[in-house]
Amino acid sequence: MFSKNYSTAKRVQAFSSKGDFEKAKKLMIEMSENYKVLLDLFPENTEDEFDTEALPTVWEEKDEFNALMTKASDDMIKLTSVIEDAEDIRGTLKQFMWSNCKACHSRYREEH
Ligand code: HEC
Repeated sequence: MFSKNYSTAKRVQAFSSKGDFEKAKKLMIEMSENYKVLLDLFPENTEDEFDTEALPTVWEEKDEFNALMTKASDDMIKLTSVIEDAEDIRGTLKQFMWSNCKACHSRYREEH
């Protein structure tokens, strides 16, 4: 699921850089939906049942984790409306897409 988001994110970056915003936007919406599905994949008290790299803090700070996920989802939708007029495509993608990955991983995912 997250791996899919990663490959989709890279395609969003590629299409946006080429100015192919229609294709990029479709993928942004896909990612936004994907985040919402992910919200349901970390239900209460299942931390011991899965082989996961998610840290226990995901369950201990569920509200905050969900808020980050929801923000990541909302930001992808915002991205669809700002990307075309953005002067700095890379910077805009960073702000609305990549920074959310990092914000969550730094707190809720095990180091590799
Ligand atoms: C709100 C939290 C959150 C956001 C936002 C988030 N991730 Fe993750 N990500 C996680 C957690 C938690 C894991 C560990 C999940 C597991 O192993 O079950 C993870 C794991 C991953 C993995 C490893 C998947 C695997 O199969 O081992 C990749 C790749 C990844 N994320 C990419 C991304 C990318 C790219 C973005 C942004 C476009 C992103 N993530 C946004 C929380 C998040």
